[in-house]
Amino acid sequence: MADDPHATWTSVDTYLTSALGLSDETVERALTNQREAGLPEINVSAPQGKQLALIAQSIGAKKILEVGTLGGYSTIWMARALPADGQLITLELDEHHATTARASVEQAGLGSVVEVIQGPALETLERLKAEGAGPFDLAFIDADKVNNANYFKAALAMSRPGSVIIVDNVIRNGAVTDLESADTAVQGVHALNSYVASESRVSATTIQTVGNKGYDGYLMAVVQH
Ligand code: SAH
Ligand code: DHB
Ligand code: MG
Repeated sequence: MADDPHATWTSVDTYLTSALGLSDETVERALTNQREAGLPEINVSAPQGKQLALIAQSIGAKKILEVGTLGGYSTIWMARALPADGQLITLELDEHHATTARASVEQAGLGSVVEVIQGPALETLERLKAEGAGPFDLAFIDADKVNNANYFKAALAMSRPGSVIIVDNVIRNGAVTDLESADTAVQGVHALNSYVASESRVSATTIQTVGNKGYDGYLMAVVQH
């Protein structure tokens, strides 16, 4: 273990990605496109992307909802786990991010499976709900953290019993333990946790993680019968 734990976590992610053959040309191209387009490198890691794909596969997901597209890296991981008649709807505020993601999704051959909807996700979710979209078998929430609880509620409203809802970045380098935090992202996690704890329609847990993204974690919820 090196002195710098973050360096060790990054090396281990690199090792695992190689040892398990996690990455491939398609997802790497999305990362290259994202970098060339000047987007921030805040996508999930390859091990995390693979885990999202495995979760989608293990529940036989046919419809996936994503909140926070960025360059479409996590989008492509999940969309590839769908059957040919599957559907993934991903919501992105930033026009340039959405355009970049659409190009990478096309290059990945997933243009007919993935729909990138540009706009504030809260508004798009309201519209989707009104249109009777879903039910989504899997939702991945990874956008502006302050709205975590609102996104979770919207995902729950478009779910069915057995649907899985995952929320990224809910540990924040341990800052979640500061109940007085002035960080709106931390406050967003607190709001999410108190909502999830009070909502009898879901059963949930949170797992702490380390890796090239630092010390963070994700919440996983299953919609109950
Ligand atoms: N899921 C992506 C990373 C998403 S980063 C991946 O792992 O590859 C978070 C994204 O959420 C950014 O692209 C940001 O522009 C977007 N975002 C921020 N606020 C938003 C909002 N109100 N509605 C929709 N997207 C938003
Ligand atoms: C940020 C956002 C993410 O979704 C993430 O996984 C890491 C960082 C950010 O906004 O900095
Ligand atoms: Mg994230």
